[in-house]
Amino acid sequence: MEKRDLLYEGKAKKLYETDRPNVLWVEYKDDLTAFNGEKKASQLGKGKLNNKISSLLLQYLKEKGIYNHFIQQLSDHEQLVEKTTIIPIEVVVRNTAAGSLAKRLGLPEGEKLKSTIVEYYYKDDDLGDPLINEDHIELLDLVDSASLNEMKELSLKVNRLLSELFQSCDLQLVDFKLEFGRDRNGEVALSDEISPDTCRLWDVATNEKLDKDVFRQNLGSVEEAYQTILNRLEGAVTHG
Ligand code: C5P
Repeated sequence: MEKRDLLYEGKAKKLYETDRPNVLWVEYKDDLTAFNGEKKASQLGKGKLNNKISSLLLQYLKEKGIYNHFIQQLSDHEQLVEKTTIIPIEVVVRNTAAGSLAKRLGLPEGEKLKSTIVEYYYKDDDLGDPLINEDHIELLDLVDSASLNEMKELSLKVNRLLSELFQSCDLQLVDFKLEFGRDRNGEVALSDEISPDTCRLWDVATNEKLDKDVFRQNLGSVEEAYQTILNRLEGAVTHG
């Protein structure tokens, strides 16, 4: 496999074309951003950790029957993925009140939600990724309703699988964000990374935050937190 032209550079990753038309080469960067890009930093080792964590989680989900774009991990900070056309909706799944939900509804952080909540955000940096509902999605023609239902069902299934996996390594999956794309056959495929940049993960015993909130809220070393997640996941997957 050959790495070709840079196709896209995002906040946390670079995507390159390859000599295969439907395969992309992903490079994870050490950059961290929060609050729609207003807070920025570089944390040595972060790219490597997210590549490893995301590879492990996407491979795990694939083995559990969740079709996704992951092909293989190439190196510490690189992986191959199938090229998909991203549907401009971020799906957020929440089990426990935190972040923007806690703020918006005045709920105490850490309150277990009576039932799982699924939210949609319009992926548009200029608009600041606003919260939207099914009617907005139809109005903007972001995706057809059958595919939206599929995305919702897949997100809930991912929530069940990942909650169970994290629980087995003493981590609570508070909430997370997923993105979906269409593959070359038009199938909906789970795409993008799943990492401590995109999930809230708390230690079950102490409620210590081991995710991007460490950066957002200046709670300590991002690298140490992400390394803890990787170590625990590797233990769970090897011994599970
Ligand atoms: O900020 P908020 O509480 O809405 O975030 C919910 C979840 O989605 C968190 O795990 C956060 O890390 C993730 N998220 C993300 N990318 C965004 C917005 C939120 O990964 N653009």
